[in-house]
Amino acid sequence: MENRKKSVMLRNGVEIPGIGYGTWLLDDKTTAADVVAEAIRAGYRHIDTAAYYGNEASVAEGIRRSGVRREEIFVTSKVWYTHRSYEKTWEAFEMTMKAFGFDSLDLYLVHWPAVQKNYDNWKEVNAETWRAMEEIYRSGRVRAIGVSNFLPHHLEPLLERAKVLPMVNQIEFRPGYSQIECAKWCLERGIVPEAWRPLGAGAALNSEVMAELSQTYGKSPAQICIRWVLQHGLIPLPKSANPVRMRENLQVYDFTLSAEDMAKIDALPRDEVSAIPPDELVEN
Ligand code: A2P
Repeated sequence: MENRKKSVMLRNGVEIPGIGYGTWLLDDKTTAADVVAEAIRAGYRHIDTAAYYGNEASVAEGIRRSGVRREEIFVTSKVWYTHRSYEKTWEAFEMTMKAFGFDSLDLYLVHWPAVQKNYDNWKEVNAETWRAMEEIYRSGRVRAIGVSNFLPHHLEPLLERAKVLPMVNQIEFRPGYSQIECAKWCLERGIVPEAWRPLGAGAALNSEVMAELSQTYGKSPAQICIRWVLQHGLIPLPKSANPVRMRENLQVYDFTLSAEDMAKIDALPRDEVSAIPPDELVEN
C-alpha cells in the first residue's frame, strides 16, 4: 500500500503514515462511517479526528466496516478546549476512548493552546493539560502525544516544563496559508508538523499558479498542493467524500516539485479562507 510505505518516524520510534485522512465535518448524522470505510479501502491508514468533530464512534465503526485490522490504522483524536486542566483532560480522554470502543489510541493531541485572550495564566493552563497528556502517554493507552494549533511562542513555555516532549503539532497549512516558519521551528525540534485543511477546503486549487503547475507536472491541483505540503516536511490531512478523489490525493509520491516551483507556491498571497489565528480564538 503506497501510503503505508511512506511513513514518518516520531521521536519515540512510532511510525505514522505520511498522509492522513481528515474527518472534520463528517458528523455522525451523515455517513461518516461509510466514508471512513471507503477512505481505508482507498488506501488511507491514518485517520484524523477529534472529540469536537462528534464522529469518533462513526470513525471506529468505519474502521470495523473496512475489514482492515484496527492495528493497521493510525488513529488520532484531540481534546477540546472545554476540557483543559489535569482532571478534565483525563475525563475527555476517557470519553474519547469510550466513544471509539478501542483499547488504545495512536495519537492524542491538545486541540488548541490556551492563550492570553482567554486566560491570564495561560502558560499554567497549558502545562496542567500537558501534565495529564504525559500521564495518559505513560499509561500506555496512547502511542504518542502532541499538540495542535500551537505557535512557537505557545510551545516554548510548554517545552521548558514538559517531561515528555510533544511529538506532533497539527497546524493549518496550505498554499495561500503557509505557516512555513512555524513548521520549520517544529521540525528543528523533532516535532512532526501536520497540515490541516491542506486544500483550503478546495479554495487552494483554483489559482493560476496551480493551473500552470498542474500542466507542467501532469498532476491535479490537489496533488500539487499535497506534494508541496509533503516537501515542506508536513503530514497532509486532506479530506474528500469522493472515492476517486480520495485515491487521487494519495498518488503524490511519483513526482517532485522543483525548488523554483516550491518557491512559486510559497509566494502565493494569503487566501480568503477563514484561518483562525490561535491567539484570537475566543473560547465559549
Ligand atoms: P470532495 O469531498 O467533493 O472531494 P480540505 O482537505 O482542505 O479540507 O479540503 C476538502 C475539500 O476539498 C472538499 O470540499 C473536497 O471535496 C475537496 N477536494 C478534496 N480532494 C480534492 C481533489 N482531489 N480535487 C478537487 N477537490 C478536492
